[in-house]
Amino acid sequence: MSKKMITPQTLLYPVPVVMVSSGTETSRNIITVAWAGVVCSDPPMVGIGIRPSRYSHELISQQGEFVVNIPLASQLDAVKVCGGATGRGRDKFRDAGLHAAAASIVKAPLISECPVNLECQVRQVVKLGSHDLFLAEIVAIHASEEVLDAYGRIDPAKAKPLGYISGEYWTGH
Ligand SMILES: Cc1cc2nc3c(=O)[nH]c(=O)nc-3n(C[C@H](O)[C@H](O)[C@H](O)COP(=O)(O)O)c2cc1C
Repeated sequence: MSKKMITPQTLLYPVPVVMVSSGTETSRNIITVAWAGVVCSDPPMVGIGIRPSRYSHELISQQGEFVVNIPLASQLDAVKVCGGATGRGRDKFRDAGLHAAAASIVKAPLISECPVNLECQVRQVVKLGSHDLFLAEIVAIHASEEVLDAYGRIDPAKAKPLGYISGEYWTGH
């Protein structure tokens, strides 16, 4: 395989596109995040990279909690709304046509319309440069029967996830 060297950059692909909700009933917010991934199996943990300038950074830092909401590819319009403007002074749940539901453990609300919601509690924050990495334990999961197979696992054909490659949305289906 012939290869060429290219500039070091964030080239891992595909990465998931998720909507991270934070705050409380009164300060609720959603941010679209592509710098997200699983970082540990036991305890189950995810990491999300967020710029300090984001309103969500402030809310998650204050509260130490957030919810990772995994959208369907068909929810791309809402993903764009939540990634297109800050939630400071506006309600992105309303703007994106999404509904908040109470989580079971964390104070941050779930996005009802997303088939899978991971309730997360921050365990460590690592300052990396442009982004801070919030390392968080998944303390509860809500999953719609509509995206599960007969064994209770995620069925990709039903979950129809949204990915991101080199600045473009990717569905792979
Ligand atoms: C596809 C996509 C992926 C994004 N990924 C990230 C990310 O990983 N980290 C981040 O800080 N911002 C990311 N953003 C930008 C934020 O979603 C955007 O700045 C948002 O308006 C911040 O909202 P907030 O100020 O209400 O928190 C992404 C935007 C899009 C459209």
